[in-house]
Amino acid sequence: MNRVSELFSITGKVAIVTGAASGIGRAIALALSGAGASVVVADKEVSGANKVAGEIESAGGRAIATETDVTGKKEVEQMVQKTIEGFGKIDILVNNAGIIARNSVMDIQEEELDRTFDVNLKGVVLCSQAAARHMIERKSGKIVNVGSSLSSRASVCNLSGGGADYCASKAAVQALTRSLAMELGPYGINVNAVAPGPTNTPMHEGLWEMAAAYYQGSIPLGRLAEPEDIADVVAFLVTDAARYITGQTIHVNGGQIMVD
Ligand SMILES: NC(=O)c1ccc[n+]([C@@H]2O[C@H](COP(=O)([O-])OP(=O)(O)OC[C@H]3O[C@@H](n4cnc5c(N)ncnc54)[C@H](O)[C@@H]3O)[C@@H](O)[C@H]2O)c1
Repeated sequence: MNRVSELFSITGKVAIVTGAASGIGRAIALALSGAGASVVVADKEVSGANKVAGEIESAGGRAIATETDVTGKKEVEQMVQKTIEGFGKIDILVNNAGIIARNSVMDIQEEELDRTFDVNLKGVVLCSQAAARHMIERKSGKIVNVGSSLSSRASVCNLSGGGADYCASKAAVQALTRSLAMELGPYGINVNAVAPGPTNTPMHEGLWEMAAAYYQGSIPLGRLAEPEDIADVVAFLVTDAARYITGQTIHVNGGQIMVD
């Protein structure tokens, strides 16, 4: 193998992907497996996780499915334990699990607020803590968080003009990415975020046609994202070719919003 192909290879690495039963997480799990990693497919929906693990195995890869709600510290620790028992180590953590919220600020109920921040922010902290303990010992690791390009920077996340809690939680993920990168950099751990633009996944069930029509004209590359558009960038960020990138949010949005 020449130097460049070696840098881009993740053969033999072990990755955990949360929220991997559907949409972007599923595409990330398949991409990392396709690039040579063994993958722990973690999701609160275990039947979906089993299905994705099955897809990976049918294609000749190695996968373990785990029923994990990222909001539970104990479950997250069990996910990490299961990974180490099954595959011996953790090289990569992708914090992808997330839920959308669509209410306007004045209508957000306390339960919704708690749930949005529990899944989208607390889940990232819990999974990062649990995996990083192990990565710190090995003085190496890659963490990629999934933020949101439009929601973290625009004032609303959807066509109806609501979703303040979702927007705030995704902006927080991107801020947390910088803090984690500061703390974990000295241990050889890179922490970055990808911020997808509107992406065709079950999250937009029933709304996709409308979203596509609404956003199309604002995207210089002329189309909305497919899950693989996001997954392929994650697959780059976890390679050694990306070794000098940390604390960054990479906007994978077809150019929909461009700022320095
Ligand atoms: N689709 C988009 O347009 C878009 C845009 C920007 C960011 N994102 C982000 O991308 C990520 C993936 O979204 P998606 O569009 O693929 O959505 P999706 O609904 O298709 O998939 C989300 C997955 O996360 C899982 N999940 C939800 N709560 C969980 C929990 N508590 N513990 C474990 N798993 C949980 C779900 O079961 C599901 O399998 C999310 O963080 C989302 O906020 C999506």
